[in-house]
Amino acid sequence: MRVLFVCLGNICRSPTAEGVFRRELEAAGLAHRVEVDSCGIGDWHVGKAPDPRSAAAARRRGVDLSELRARQLAAEDFSRFDYLLAMDHDNLAAIRAQCPDGCGAHIGLFLDFAGHVDRPVPDPYYGGERGFEEVLDLIEAASRGLVEEIALRLEGQRR
Ligand code: 4NP
Repeated sequence: MRVLFVCLGNICRSPTAEGVFRRELEAAGLAHRVEVDSCGIGDWHVGKAPDPRSAAAARRRGVDLSELRARQLAAEDFSRFDYLLAMDHDNLAAIRAQCPDGCGAHIGLFLDFAGHVDRPVPDPYYGGERGFEEVLDLIEAASRGLVEEIALRLEGQRR
């Protein structure tokens, strides 16, 4: 199973989702069964490490983002990943616009997995410190929901 998190710059929200979701997979004993990556719609930050404010907020919750580097969404991602999960509606529209016909991946908003309907992870880039904490709260909730769904799918594959 392969999961790709997508935001605008790939330096705040989607690398946070990548790190937190990995931590939740490890806690569930599923890290070896699921591949996780993140990317951005834009190319401004390609090759850069996560924003220091995101890295610090994640570190406070036991998640290390220091090895991650930004990259841009690529055509191959649509055949490689089972889930392409957008942080907000603009990201989602951009993914859909680039999605080839017949692509079988699940494409949707990440917070659907936190039981929120149609809700974005707000972009924290131009805001204050509190925005980064809110991003983590939302991403932790959705990560737990996504681990539950994937655990059920993997269980189904074994039967
Ligand atoms: P992200 O946040 O999409 O969560 O990585 C942003 C990072 C950079 C910019 C916008 C959003 N930017 O405009 O450079």
